[in-house]
Amino acid sequence: MKAAMAPAIENFHKGVNQGVAPVTYGHGERPPRGDYAQARADYTCEQDWSAYTAQEHDLYRRLYERQAAQLPGLACEEFIAAVGELGAPAQIPRFDALSEKLQRATGWEVVAVPGLIPEEAFFALLAQRRFPVTGWIRKPEEFDYVVEPDVFHDLFGHVPLLFNPMFADYMQAYGAGGLKASRLEACEYLARLYWYTVEFGLIATPAGLRAYGAGILSSAGELRHSVLSPDPQRIGFDLERIMRTRYKIDSYQSTYFVIDSFEQLFKATAPDFTPIYRRVAHAGELGAEQRLDSDRAY
Ligand code: PHE
Ligand code: FE
Repeated sequence: MKAAMAPAIENFHKGVNQGVAPVTYGHGERPPRGDYAQARADYTCEQDWSAYTAQEHDLYRRLYERQAAQLPGLACEEFIAAVGELGAPAQIPRFDALSEKLQRATGWEVVAVPGLIPEEAFFALLAQRRFPVTGWIRKPEEFDYVVEPDVFHDLFGHVPLLFNPMFADYMQAYGAGGLKASRLEACEYLARLYWYTVEFGLIATPAGLRAYGAGILSSAGELRHSVLSPDPQRIGFDLERIMRTRYKIDSYQSTYFVIDSFEQLFKATAPDFTPIYRRVAHAGELGAEQRLDSDRAY
């Protein structure tokens, strides 16, 4: 899950559902999928598990199996250790059963949402250790690529690492930091941090680079690309560098940032961002493909 990134439209006040669908990426020929009328004020809704068809369960299983087969050597150990918590892939998991396990492990739960939600609503849920998961699954013809996050991306990509205590704490801190960034009008900088860590982060391990970002781990092609391709640049984690760097939403990333550990990530993001946002605004933006002499390349 990822909050809708475009600026909020007027009725879309403070992340409270007032019956208007959130804006999504780009300019909409496509209305967002999902029934926002059924959502509560905090954008959560019922999963309606019994509404999934046999074909949808089967699509989930095929997505899961394709992805699980390529995890060894490409996904980080923490992810591989926890992915089994999603349960047998024969059916789309029931969120309530998954939440029970997650609650016991790290105090997190998963909650259903109709799709992309506004930033403030997204941050508020994370700050409460509630991870919003899209209820619907992509169409069969979207097997290889889906533009908006669906239940497969949200569950398979994001939920395993919520079983890791350090990463779980990072996600909550991010949510709280998001609420603060909204007040400081710094959401764009914080969104870049999310993008280059939670969605597309790499981690250096003794065995080599591995993926921990959900956007990579749930992608059929980008998992290999991010870890093995000679094309993208891979740069050591640098908070201000990340906050300055634009990102691509419609192709593989041309830049990935590499952390040494979740502890490094948690500690580097612990300081008050208020002065950092000011510095970043002053330093200016960098293109997604830009290189700097100060980059610590892998
Ligand atoms: N330390 C950040 C702040 O003061 C909050 C934060 C923590 C943001 C972790 C992102 C990730 O705003
Ligand atoms: Fe996501």
